[in-house]
Amino acid sequence: MEEKKDLIAVLQQIQQKAQDALHSVNSADDLERWKFTYLGRSSEVMQVFKEIPSMETALRPVLGQKANQVKTELEKRLELTHERIQQAALANNIKQQKLDVTLPGRQPERGRLHIATQTLQEIYRILAEMGFQVYRSREVESDEYNFELLNIPAYHPARDLWDTFYTKKEGVILRTHTSPGQIHAMHEYAPDPVRIVLPGMVYRYEQMDASHEIQFNQIELLAVGRNITFGDLRGTLEEFIRRMFGSGVETRLRPSYFPFTEPSAEMDMKCISCNGKGCGVCSGTGWLEILGCGMVHPTVLKNGGYDPEKFSGFAAGLGTERISMLRHGVDDIRNFWANDIRFLKQF
Ligand code: PHE
Repeated sequence: MEEKKDLIAVLQQIQQKAQDALHSVNSADDLERWKFTYLGRSSEVMQVFKEIPSMETALRPVLGQKANQVKTELEKRLELTHERIQQAALANNIKQQKLDVTLPGRQPERGRLHIATQTLQEIYRILAEMGFQVYRSREVESDEYNFELLNIPAYHPARDLWDTFYTKKEGVILRTHTSPGQIHAMHEYAPDPVRIVLPGMVYRYEQMDASHEIQFNQIELLAVGRNITFGDLRGTLEEFIRRMFGSGVETRLRPSYFPFTEPSAEMDMKCISCNGKGCGVCSGTGWLEILGCGMVHPTVLKNGGYDPEKFSGFAAGLGTERISMLRHGVDDIRNFWANDIRFLKQF
């Protein structure tokens, strides 16, 4: 009986000691060590279990029960301490990272097409409906295509119409207009009819100001076939401008001069800002100059591979940044390539 009482007291002491030790456990490592000491294979409780079989039969159940109780209790406390440590670690993490989940998220900047591209796409859409297909041509051109084949020989005074960027390589220039693309297209399609819109960047060696840039987009229209008349030119251009700016817009044609068209003209549009009364946008004239055009010159048709006795055509060229400016009330062309996101994100 003594032995039994003793062992029960020993078990109680073991439990008490283990529980006291648990108070100073503050980390996962501490807890691991505690578990090894108080519940491990060579711990005191486990020693008691090993001794039970050598005890008096009558004592065994009581002792076994008590030892089990102690072990279960310690295991329960181990589990609770484990939770306490995890909670503390989490709280500490949150405090250190100072994560404020109530802060609003950062809005990513949304990309968009450049306003110049948007305008070009709108133009392609309208012209596609009118039967024109996009044709692309090179920006680095030869003097031959940019001038000579367009009926502008070397030293011809008309060359002054285009201030040219030359390169170090003889005869290689940046195109000053999209018109050389007319020749490329004609070479590709002759003697079949063509009806194309030719877009792209052109370059001019100019003094920059609010209405002059050294690079800008142009589109060229070219239609070549049998029996194409000045009436077709006029009807097509007026319809295009109406689809672009609205059916109420008024246009007029003025005689003009280009070496590669004959006759040549320029088209004006009634100022959309003042409706013809005269304002800053139209320099008080009530009209806005928007494009150059004309019937393709017989020499140019011949240079393109068409017989001018059988074929005729019309061509037109316009700067599309100017169109963007009119449609959106932009007053300085330099905005287009200045890459100021505040300007660009408006469109
Ligand atoms: N290429 C001319 C320019 O840039 C415009 C134009 C094109 C005129 C086609 C007539 C016909 O000034």
